[in-house]
Amino acid sequence: MTTSDPIGLPHPPLPGSSALPDGTYDGKVVFVTGGGTGLGRAIATEFARLGARIVVASRKPEHLAQADAAMAEIGAEVLTVACDIRDPDQIAAAFDEAEAAFALPDVLVNNAAANFPVPAEDMSPNAWRTVVDITLNGTYFCAREFARRHLEANTPGSIINVGASYAWTGGPGFAHSAAAKAGVKNMVETLAVEWGPYGIQVNGLVPGLFPHEDMTADIQGNLARTNDKDVCQPALRVGQPRELGWAATFLASPWAQFISGHTLVVDGANWQRRSLTNPPIVTIRDQMGKGPFEL
Ligand code: HXC
Ligand code: NAP
Repeated sequence: MTTSDPIGLPHPPLPGSSALPDGTYDGKVVFVTGGGTGLGRAIATEFARLGARIVVASRKPEHLAQADAAMAEIGAEVLTVACDIRDPDQIAAAFDEAEAAFALPDVLVNNAAANFPVPAEDMSPNAWRTVVDITLNGTYFCAREFARRHLEANTPGSIINVGASYAWTGGPGFAHSAAAKAGVKNMVETLAVEWGPYGIQVNGLVPGLFPHEDMTADIQGNLARTNDKDVCQPALRVGQPRELGWAATFLASPWAQFISGHTLVVDGANWQRRSLTNPPIVTIRDQMGKGPFEL
């Protein structure tokens, strides 16, 4: 090895460690949508390790059971609530349950989202609506419920909206999700200004590529069609889910109160990778092994 050999960005500290002091979230309640799988579970885990009581809201019983199991493993208190974030009444009921079991959540992590790869010309109106309804509308409905309760109680709170970098760049093969995530990023900026005077901090948190075992078959299939994922990243590695959890716990912590309206990208600079000589274009149809478009 010479001094100029690429070494990539260093690997993160081991699971179970944290940059924040023990007990940072003692007495706090953190509400995580989609917290039973993947990155939502990783985020819930890091808040729980720092003392938070966790509320996980999502649709599927098997995912809620995964949240229960993950929190039990670290001895954290958890409430799991069946909730489809497309329905404001179900969100209100989930917050009622959280208040009855614990207290009004201090932190809301809008992590739940929907996505599948599809060429834009093939997408049905209902497919578009479904992804926008979950990713953009659901995020807003949860934020609204959280803020209204804090405004009424006159208490501070923190919202983190999980985004995606194709909010800025566009996302070929993901027109619905990229447009929805652009809305989510924009909403962070509006809500931070509107609700700052009432003590509510609003930020965005954007993961780069964080593969995990809960990824939907569609997304895993899409990733399987790409080359070695590490060598495609400037960091020469993908993200470890706990790295996103650490970023979330920092953003909602007492040490980050003056950070609001900001979107933090945790992706080893991958979304900045630009060149006038990018790899040759392969159409989304070809990437997905689809034949010619037919009406
Ligand atoms: C084309 C599809 C489709 C697909 C569903 N649809 N899957 N169209 N390709 N793969 C269409 C359906 O045909 C239907 O339209 C419409 O979408 C709604 O489908 P339903 O199955 O009825 O919806 P629902 O049961 O509400 O489920 C929502 C879902 C599902 C989004 C379709 O995949 C889901 O529950 N996803 C949650 C988990 C998830 O998406 N995770 C990814 C998180 S984001 P028609 O016209 O037939 O009625 C993420 C970012 C990664 O991971 C970034 C890159 C690495
Ligand atoms: P995931 O494992 O598929 O998680 C999505 C979660 O959202 C699931 O737990 C799901 O739970 C929940 N959900 C979906 N629709 C819902 C609805 N209508 N109501 C309530 N909950 C719903 O995906 P992930 O990779 O962890 O992604 C988490 C976040 O990171 C998302 O916002 C995603 O866009 C973002 N992201 C991820 C990556 C990555 O590399 N993994 C990259 C960029 C951005 P139920 O099925 O139980 O409802």
